[in-house]
Amino acid sequence: MNKLYVLALSASLASPLAFADTKPVSIDNKPAFIASLMKQMTLDEKIGQLRLISIGPEMPAKEIVKEIAAGRIGGTFNSVTRAENRPLQDAAAKNSRLKIPMFFAYDVIHGHRTIFPISLGLASSWDMQAVERVGRVSAIEASADGLDMTFGPMVDIARDPRWGRTSEGFGEDPHLVSEAARATVRGLQGKSASAPDSIMASVKHFALYGAIEGGRDYNTVDMSPMRMYQDYLPPYRAAIDAGAGGVMVALNSINGVPASSNMWLMQDLLRKDWGFKGVTVSDHGAITELMRHGVAKDNREAAKLAIKAGIDMSMADTSYGAELPGLVKSGEVNIKDIDNAVREVLGAKYDMGLFHDPYRRIGKASDDPAETNAESRLHRDDARDVARKSLVLLENRNQTLPLKKGGTIALVGPLADTQIDVMGSWSAAGFLKQSVTVRQGLQNALGQQGRLIYARGSNITEDKKIVEYLNYLNWDAPEVVQDPRLQVEMLEEAVKAAQQADVIVAAVGESRGMSHESSSRVSLDLPANQRVLLEALKATGKPLVIVLMNGRPLNLTWAQANADAMLETWFPGTEGGNAIADVLFGDYNPSGKLPITFPRSVGQIPSYYNHLRLGRPFTPGKPGNYTSQYFDEENGPLYHFGYGLSYTDFTVSDVTLSSQTMQRKGSVDASVRVKNTGQRDGATVVQLYIRDVAASVVRPVKELKDFRKIMLKAGEEQVVRFKIDEDKLKFFNPKLQNVAEAGAFDVQIGLDSQNVKQASFDLK
Ligand code: NOJ
Repeated sequence: MNKLYVLALSASLASPLAFADTKPVSIDNKPAFIASLMKQMTLDEKIGQLRLISIGPEMPAKEIVKEIAAGRIGGTFNSVTRAENRPLQDAAAKNSRLKIPMFFAYDVIHGHRTIFPISLGLASSWDMQAVERVGRVSAIEASADGLDMTFGPMVDIARDPRWGRTSEGFGEDPHLVSEAARATVRGLQGKSASAPDSIMASVKHFALYGAIEGGRDYNTVDMSPMRMYQDYLPPYRAAIDAGAGGVMVALNSINGVPASSNMWLMQDLLRKDWGFKGVTVSDHGAITELMRHGVAKDNREAAKLAIKAGIDMSMADTSYGAELPGLVKSGEVNIKDIDNAVREVLGAKYDMGLFHDPYRRIGKASDDPAETNAESRLHRDDARDVARKSLVLLENRNQTLPLKKGGTIALVGPLADTQIDVMGSWSAAGFLKQSVTVRQGLQNALGQQGRLIYARGSNITEDKKIVEYLNYLNWDAPEVVQDPRLQVEMLEEAVKAAQQADVIVAAVGESRGMSHESSSRVSLDLPANQRVLLEALKATGKPLVIVLMNGRPLNLTWAQANADAMLETWFPGTEGGNAIADVLFGDYNPSGKLPITFPRSVGQIPSYYNHLRLGRPFTPGKPGNYTSQYFDEENGPLYHFGYGLSYTDFTVSDVTLSSQTMQRKGSVDASVRVKNTGQRDGATVVQLYIRDVAASVVRPVKELKDFRKIMLKAGEEQVVRFKIDEDKLKFFNPKLQNVAEAGAFDVQIGLDSQNVKQASFDLK
């Protein structure tokens, strides 16, 4: 592309504000280039840049093209092919007065055409190279479809599994989620967000969306600043520090002020404290919702509050376009506020490389793929590899797993053969016909070596209201297809299959829509009819392997007590069925670890591992011993954070510290010797936790500070060394200063959060 971008092409179109400066400006000088462009923009053109419009029923495609050409739209989302995006870019880059390019966004959360495991599954891999690869492949595929930006990563800390969007994030832990946030941004943006095969990341949902009260979607958040800074804010910050070009603002309010009108959040914290220079985008319709929050009396006030707070773009806009012109003219909104927002939007377009070449991702029509869903466009090997890494082995009694390739396997359950569920929610442009179910995966692995009998056994649920709810959206196909047979007929068929088999594999859990936006639950139980199915299968006396699909921790107390083996597969993506077969048959030794605590029941929520210390922590012993507990259920989680089994065994030695004291700005090395004492090669995750023994404020019982995933051959051992520096000891004090206080620290290292070896040192 030419070095000089000559702005005004035709002075005949000039408006009073336009073409004050017609001198060519070097495109290489970003601030000068944008300033020069802004000098030539009318107020309406500026406001147009702040509107992000959804392709779909909200505005018919024809109207969108007209609006773009008139300079009244800055970007769109939800169109996913080059052919769809090209005419929109033509309208902007060829037919609008100033030829400012559009950008095209989409929710690319865990893959684009190739669908990877949901983010909770990705976090279960504890493999940040794999997470980065998911970002990279997603960007390669999305950019090849003419997309420039994604609304991700989603890094909301989730400690309440009733929240359906738990599935979209990386779990409960600030450190693990921050690492995944960084890895995803690195993957999506590659070397630069401007590269033709990169897309810009916009981290969401800023902020604290995961802490909505009661896990009920869109509910309010009330939180102390210390907790925000310590636990909930770090992942957004990590994504921004990794270079995320955008931030999507949350729908919730925070301590009484909606995020979308929150000056403290958007200005003081994001811009001033963190120095964020990119673009901020509202969530869908969030600015108009300021009226429903009750902080704006009308749409006009909503627009005013949002632009002043620093929301640059209005998603699914019905307020900026309608209200900002009048607000500026009346002087209620200063043109500077508009200019700041426009500068960020143009800056993001610049950073995406769109001024250099508006078609850098759309390309030429002659190069468009003949078949959008062509197999050749998928990255199946990557998907299978990452999916295998994301599976967590929860139980394995009497070495039930791995299964032998041979004999007869009864595969049962409502999730055994549904292509849509394997993909999980927010499966972007994933094509369900390309996803591999458990049934297909097992069959592929078995070939002629054994017999697979399949019986559905039950529907996802027999609750008609829930089915109606789940099918409400019905994007491309019904989310849940009910088998019209009676429950008892399906059950009989399944039991018959089980009786003929050597082992039962039961694929149960949630349909993908049950763990989605707006899909909060009051219960973490398996739907009743699925539990009935499991009980009937158990009664056959055959070994029972439970394969779970779900996007949140479930109450698995019955399953834990009754299953011979249990594998958590989340929603594993396009290659899910093959990956599950790899693990069930032992072609891959499971290495996933839980990124979130599994409580015993909904009543234990919140149930995260890194809770603050108590004056009366639960101490088993006499009943009524006045310690912190529930008296009507066993205490403590069912499966704790960081937990996950392997087909081999590992031992961890005592912790060796390089010194008993640490000087400020110095460091201490903590090391353990990890040995694979079993018969198979395998990978595991060595986890480092730190506990501040006594501080000026109450600190958590422990906090994950580092981890390493290592591969050990059978019999092999390795020394794993962690460097502990002052940063790992820091926390936010009541003045919100990030400090490390002198005194003792416990270092705990283990293969999960509870079974750890400990040593201590002093910070001087
Ligand atoms: C609403 C969701 O909250 C957000 O995560 C998503 O990016 C937008 N819709 C756009 O689809």
